[in-house]
Amino acid sequence: MGKYRYTAANVAPGCAASLVVQSATVIRKTLLLSALIGLALPIACDSDDDDDMGTGAGTGDSDGVPADFAGKTNPLDGDSGAIASGMAQYTQLCANCHGDTGAGDGPGSTTTPPATDFTAMSNADDFMLWSITEGVSGTAMASYSGMSETEIWQLISYIRTLQ
Ligand code: HEC
Repeated sequence: MGKYRYTAANVAPGCAASLVVQSATVIRKTLLLSALIGLALPIACDSDDDDDMGTGAGTGDSDGVPADFAGKTNPLDGDSGAIASGMAQYTQLCANCHGDTGAGDGPGSTTTPPATDFTAMSNADDFMLWSITEGVSGTAMASYSGMSETEIWQLISYIRTLQ
């Protein structure tokens, strides 16, 4: 299993055995087939997992945060310079929807669902980083992947002061 990126942590119990069997098989098959099985397995094996993938923003927990973001915490939390930089960006890019005080009541918050009221929720850092980097699918929240991770942590540092 060494070359497989799946670990016990993201393969549901009971699926590990089938993963091993399928791994042995795919070694003899094409790279494409290997990739397809690799993609299909975690989905097929997720059915008995109670992770509530994809409900996204507003759920108040970090379930479903992709591995690229999961477990990350803000290295700039409480940093006054970061808060000042984040505030400048927030005012320019975010306040129109999320509101000057973060209450989700900016003039641009006319969509369903409306912009998140940061004063009423407090999701984990990794969930916030993911939401801002990739956007929240099915909502007006766009991806800000053009920003550096540092800039996004600065935004989160500022948002924390509104909560
Ligand atoms: C066009 C309006 C709009 C703009 C501009 C906007 N957002 Fe959002 N934002 C939304 C909406 C709508 C949601 C999704 C709310 C939901 O899922 O209930 C959202 C969700 C989020 C979430 C997820 C909240 C959670 O549940 O944890 C974060 C974090 C966030 N926005 C931060 C930002 C930041 C930072 C900016 C500026 C860089 C920004 N948003 C700009 C509309 C906007």
